[in-house]
Amino acid sequence: MTGAVIIDCDPGVDDAIALLLAFGAQMPVMGVTTVAGNVPLSLTYGNARKICELAGREVPVFAGCPRPLIRPLATAEEVHGATGLQGADLPEPRGKGRSQHSVDFLIQQLLSAPAPITVAALGPLTNLAVALIKCPQIAAHIAQLVIMGGAMGQGNITPSAEFNIYVDPHAAHVVLSAGIPTTLITLDVTHQVLTTPERLAAIRAIGNPVSTAAAGMLAFYGQSDLARYGLPGGPLHDPCVIAYLLKPQLFTTRSVPVTVELTGEQTVGRTVVDWYGSGSQAAINVAETVDADGVYALLLEALATFS
Ligand code: RIB
Ligand code: CA
Repeated sequence: MTGAVIIDCDPGVDDAIALLLAFGAQMPVMGVTTVAGNVPLSLTYGNARKICELAGREVPVFAGCPRPLIRPLATAEEVHGATGLQGADLPEPRGKGRSQHSVDFLIQQLLSAPAPITVAALGPLTNLAVALIKCPQIAAHIAQLVIMGGAMGQGNITPSAEFNIYVDPHAAHVVLSAGIPTTLITLDVTHQVLTTPERLAAIRAIGNPVSTAAAGMLAFYGQSDLARYGLPGGPLHDPCVIAYLLKPQLFTTRSVPVTVELTGEQTVGRTVVDWYGSGSQAAINVAETVDADGVYALLLEALATFS
């Protein structure tokens, strides 16, 4: 298990499931920072607060960047629905929100923490990039960064690019160039972790309010992937990041150079993974395989902890 964790996300159904996995597994989440992505920032921020309320966790949630560094914001409403969390009745968050910006929270916590912090990045990397631009020294205070993003094969927002990287490729370039110990979990792995009807039924059978809400959101979310890819269930993209932090042995990785295409008309946002990299460039860990049943076992165990 990791030390303190900050989760940066854009809920989005799979982000929501990732948060519930982290909370159910008692991961030491010290804060949730939100960014525009699946839906606009006002919704990703509110959705993160609703999930913390659903889970009964008093974790501080912060709003971050409302748009990418340079490109216009592209949302994924066709996958996550207009609110970003369709399929469940979620409780309204109690109490006031936090006024501190996600970027300032990241910088403050990373510089003041007694030990380096783990960062889980589940959305476009705009918050982390701005934090690194504003305060480059935070890179040395990140124990490890695990990112859901990128594709070596087929993209999901264009044939070349995965959504998180496509939305803000310039931010991804800044983050992947910062020398932070990084693991990248791409679509090539997350599309092996599908919420099939059998797995959805197992989640629904847990029968507590949190697992019931998770099943409702996943049922809605899977419809678009079924229609779009003919997949037998929605890929659990973001929960793979949390599963990796909880049980890295469920994955295999390879240390290879990764760069981001910033200009190609057809390829912008592509993660160019030099799979047989010479090692001449700075390398990061890229996930190669995953034990999908192991990820679902973690999720079922985590969801069953809620009452
Ligand atoms: O491409 C999948 C990623 O984009 C996931 O993180 C999903 O939530 C969206 O942010
Ligand atoms: Ca996400």
